[in-house]
This record gives sequence, structure tokens and C-alpha cells, in this order.
Amino acid sequence: MMEIKSRSHSYTVQRFPDLRTTLREFAGGAEVYCLADQRVFSLYQQDFLAVLPPERTLAVEATEEQKSFERLTPIFLWLLQKGLRRDGILLVVWGGVLQDIGCFVASVLFRGLRWELVPTTLLAQCDSCIGSKSSINIQSFKNQIGTFYAPHRVCLTFSVLKTLPWDEIRSGLGEVIKLHLLTSEKAFQQLMADLKSLPGNEQALPKWIMRSLQIKQAYIEKDEFDKGVRNLLNYGHTFGHAYESASHYSIPHGIAVTLGMLSATYVSGQMGWVGPDYFRELKHRLLPWYRPYEQKLKSLDLGEILGAIKRDKKNTQRAINCILTRGAGRMEKSGIDLEGQLRPWLEEFISSQC
Ligand SMILES: NC(=O)c1ccc[n+]([C@@H]2O[C@H](COP(=O)([O-])OP(=O)(O)OC[C@H]3O[C@@H](n4cnc5c(N)ncnc54)[C@H](O)[C@@H]3O)[C@@H](O)[C@H]2O)c1
Ligand SMILES: [Zn+2]
Repeated sequence: MMEIKSRSHSYTVQRFPDLRTTLREFAGGAEVYCLADQRVFSLYQQDFLAVLPPERTLAVEATEEQKSFERLTPIFLWLLQKGLRRDGILLVVWGGVLQDIGCFVASVLFRGLRWELVPTTLLAQCDSCIGSKSSINIQSFKNQIGTFYAPHRVCLTFSVLKTLPWDEIRSGLGEVIKLHLLTSEKAFQQLMADLKSLPGNEQALPKWIMRSLQIKQAYIEKDEFDKGVRNLLNYGHTFGHAYESASHYSIPHGIAVTLGMLSATYVSGQMGWVGPDYFRELKHRLLPWYRPYEQKLKSLDLGEILGAIKRDKKNTQRAINCILTRGAGRMEKSGIDLEGQLRPWLEEFISSQC
């Protein structure tokens, strides 16, 4: 069990053997209202129906469009019309997209409601389930509305990962790789050696999930509100978010982040921070974890990618703030000129993908 400190309250991360056992934690006791990923709900319907009253479970589709301010009203209304009160519990069973919705709803409904999280994707289990951030889109502006509001408990259930598609596993691994690259060359090498046995050795995943959470815990406990060292967790994200957005979310988040880490390393090379061998070696190691999405990246419009980077809340019109690297364990925030530096470098990086 882990205990995570947060300004509003500390919370625990606990492990459970399967979904039905996890859901039993919520049977009886306080009034529980459940928001569930539609796909997870249909795959595990018997577990939900065996434990929770069907009229208090709402299945929601996990799409980027659903994560928008405009689409929240029906969810608030459903909870209020079903009779949720401020002493009730919001149970959230889903991946990163819907976790953002659950966290946001719980943080503003009755000015803060108890909420508990059962993350069902690798990405949500290894990364987004801790850290207390919610990010909601409004029209074409991605992640511009949000709050910090930690869950009151995270219930890890590794067995649900067996139904997750392979690309969603690779997407989660993008965040696992990022956290280990942030740590040290040794941590990264150990991870990459172990990952060689995938697919087929999924029982290795819990170890890497727990290690990833421990790495992230150190950052969020030092800087919960993302004013300093937590910024480094954005390694790969300035580019990754832009690739997701320009591809209309057809590149899964963590795979876009893997391509984004490589882009940031290429840019770091152009700045003279790392040598060409470092970039080549990293590309060789990351390739199995993003291939064939580099072809999708090549088909994207550079203007749309740069437009998405400009809209990122961390950037100004002319300078892009992004996390660059001097090697594993040595990431730093740096400003880059959009037209003079980033445009030509990104064009070279994208066209060199084969
Ligand atoms: N709040 C944060 O701190 C934070 C951190 C990282 C990413 N994110 C956000 O998370 C989002 C990506 O989330 P995600 O990668 O978890 O994916 P997701 O929630 O979009 O889920 C991916 C797909 O897997 C399905 N699915 C979920 N669990 C399943 C299971 N156990 N079995 C079978 N199918 C299952 C879903 O229905 C969906 O089709 C992005 O929007 C990103 O911005 C948030
Ligand atoms: Zn991410």
C-alpha cells in the first residue's frame, strides 16, 4: 500500500485481486454513485451488476469529445437527479480520459465530494491515478479548464489490464518509459531490458506500475501544483499533445508522448545538449513502442502541429517552453523560438521518420 500526501487530504493506493472484489468495497455503507467506462462496463457487466445497484451506475464513452466542458452537464444532472448528496461517494471506474471528468466533477460538485478511483488502463494505473489533476477541453482548446483534487483512495486492479488492447498497453508504457528516463540511465536500461519480453510477459507489468507510481510520487509531493520540479513530468508532452490534437486523437496519448520524447531529444540535439549518437540510440530503443505511428505523424500537417503547440497554455506567441534533455535523468525546461528554431527542426525530425 502507498500513502500519498496532498494538500486537501492524504490518500492511499491499494491493490485488489479482481474487479468484483474491488467493487465489493463499495457495497453497502455510504451511498455510492458510479461513473464507469462504457467498454469496461460491458466487458465486466456481471461484476458491476453483482455488486452495485444498476440505477446508480452511469456508463460513459471514453472519447476526447466527451472530456469537454459542454458534455459535463448531463453527468452533473444525472448525479443530482439520482439523489447524490454531499455525504455520498463518487466511484470512478475508468482510464485517463474519464478520470479527468470524474476528478473535475468531484472537485466542483458541492464544492468537493469524496471520490474513489479504480483505474482501468495501464496509463491510468501507472501515472494519472495519482497527482490530483483534472484537465477538461473547451471547444478546440485542449485541457484548458481544470482543478487539483486528489481522490480519497485509488484501488489498483491489475487483472483488468488483460482486456486492454495492445496499443493501449503501449500507450501506458509511454508514460512508464518517460518516468524511468527522467530517473536515470540505469533505471531506463533495466526497464527496456525487461520490456523485451512483451507481449507475452504481462505479469511483469505490476512491478513497473508500482515503480512508476513511486517515481511520480516524489515529484507530486514536492510540487503538487506544478510550479517547479513537477514541470519535468511534461517531458515529451509539448510535442505529444500537439501530435494527438493534429491527428484528431488517432494517436493514443502515451504513444504520442513517446514520439514527443524523441522529438524533444532531437531538438535537444539541435541545441547541442546531446550528441547524435544519443538520439540514434534512443530512437532505436523506442521504435517498438511507437511503430507504425511515425507514418501517421508524417501524414500530419506541420501548420496544425505548430498551431496546437502555440495554443498550449504554457507557451507565448513566440517562445515555446518545453522540457529538453541532456541525457537520461537530466531534463531541463527551456524556451525555444517558434519560427526560427522549432519550425525547421520539427520539419526535419518529422520528415526523417521512415
Ligand atoms: N489527469 C492526468 O494526470 C492525466 C495524465 C496523463 C494522461 N491523461 C489523459 O488521459 C487520457 C488518456 O487516457 P487513457 O490512455 O487511460 O485512455 P482512455 O481512458 O481513453 O481509454 C482507452 C481505451 O481503452 C478502453 N478501456 C479502458 N479500460 C479498459 C479495459 N480494462 N479493458 C478494455 N478496454 C478498456 C476505453 O474504453 C478506451 O476505448 C488523455 O486524455 C490524457 O490527456 C491525464
Ligand atoms: Zn501524459
